[in-house]
Amino acid sequence: MTKTTVYIGSVDQGTTSSRFLVFDHTGAVVASHQAELKQHYPQAGWHEHDPHDILQTVKKCMNEVAARLDSLGIQLADLKAIGITNQRETTICWDAETGEPLYNAIVWCDARTKAVVDHLTHEHPSQSRDCIKDICGLPLTTYFSGVKLKWMLDNVPAVQQAARQGRLRVGTVDSWLIYHLTGGHSGQGRFVTDVTNASRTMLMDVRTLAWSEELCRFFGVSISALPEIRSSSEVYGHVASGPFAGIPLSGCLGDQQAAMVGQKCFTQGEAKNTYGTGCFMLFNTGTSPVISKHGLLTTVGYQLGPNATPVYALEGSIAVAGAALQWLRDNLGIIASASEIDRIAGAVPDNGGVYFVPAFSGLFAPYWRDDARGCIVGLTHYANKHHIARATLEATCFQTHAILDAMNQDSGVKLLKLKVDGGMTNSDLCMQLQADLAGIPVERPAMRETTALGAAMAAGLAIGIWKDLDELSNVGTSGLQTFQASLKKEERERRFAQWNRAVQRSLDWIE
Ligand code: G3P
Repeated sequence: MTKTTVYIGSVDQGTTSSRFLVFDHTGAVVASHQAELKQHYPQAGWHEHDPHDILQTVKKCMNEVAARLDSLGIQLADLKAIGITNQRETTICWDAETGEPLYNAIVWCDARTKAVVDHLTHEHPSQSRDCIKDICGLPLTTYFSGVKLKWMLDNVPAVQQAARQGRLRVGTVDSWLIYHLTGGHSGQGRFVTDVTNASRTMLMDVRTLAWSEELCRFFGVSISALPEIRSSSEVYGHVASGPFAGIPLSGCLGDQQAAMVGQKCFTQGEAKNTYGTGCFMLFNTGTSPVISKHGLLTTVGYQLGPNATPVYALEGSIAVAGAALQWLRDNLGIIASASEIDRIAGAVPDNGGVYFVPAFSGLFAPYWRDDARGCIVGLTHYANKHHIARATLEATCFQTHAILDAMNQDSGVKLLKLKVDGGMTNSDLCMQLQADLAGIPVERPAMRETTALGAAMAAGLAIGIWKDLDELSNVGTSGLQTFQASLKKEERERRFAQWNRAVQRSLDWIE
């Protein structure tokens, strides 16, 4: 294939927005469009999306980008493949006959399933949250799809009826999008998912990469309601309508795994940290799964082709990162937009003794406490909005520090630098705080669309735009900026100890 006129599209369906980007074969972005996704919070701790909105915002972005390509004089026929990357774990139930959703999507950070988690834990002979970890690599928490699905099967009559009548389809956002983009219930729609998304459901055996009969029984779902599990790089089907009709959909990864590919963490021991709505560190552990002893998740990193060997990762997940900036903006009015954070938080030299634990939906890694709640501690007459803004940035940095410690302990190897990407990495102050508070150099690429790039790379690889990982290693490579740690070890440890005291307050909170 002549590379000069080849383009690859990437759907990036995230928690707060949908995007469509087009890359050239060097990995440079030639066009993009973003549409906000409406958030629904029907009760405290509940978080939903309308599945129609998810699909329509994606289609809108694709249409806008098609028009943009046209105005740039780029032929749509030169776009050879499209990849999909998505918010993970978010669970959608729909009707096989109509293609219509049976309930809103339950979003990954929704905490309504705490009672389901408690019940399943107590029913299990081990009485342990780790009771199924050896099969799926994940602890029983509200985060993953299995418990969200069980909640719908227990509480939503339309889902119960569809399950009884064999019409139930259950998928993560990738499955919902691929199904509808390839034609939906008209008959052409492909009902598939990829190994990385499936590895977040608690329903897949992380070693065999097939749905586990034992886990499906445990959560009460029939395997026939689940999509076919495919690799992250192969042709799943073709776009059925719209300006990109006929183009193959040939790459699919959960967004954090896509960032790992986009950051080219192809070697065992490499790691990346993506600061989006949440913040997620993935550490490449090679071709066998490592079960964590320190609160990390075992997940599939990528499988780039149906015959390719899967690569695994240990993951440290932080539920609230950029979402805390949104909270400062929408709920407290401390900033007018996320881009103001450096100015507001940078107006004071330190946090003034203020620590903020934004445990809005419990605390994820390495604590895994669904019942933790947010708290701000250390307030005095001296404290002001600037300290709270700074403490908000520091919260993600301290949690990253805790995850790095867990990774060092699980892998026995100390990470030498942290590759970062995602919206919050636009904040120089946040990156400097990260280097200082974790005591590790932080490496930020100039091209930060690594999540979308990872899905485009998987899609291009499947159809031969790039032939192997060696070729992919040069795609999207751009200037790097390194933030060096400048805080003395004693001071870093003192602040981390204070953070841990604040975390304890958040864990002690009983509603
Ligand atoms: O596991 C949840 C994650 O995939 C959400 O990613 O980028 O929307 O924070 P993001």
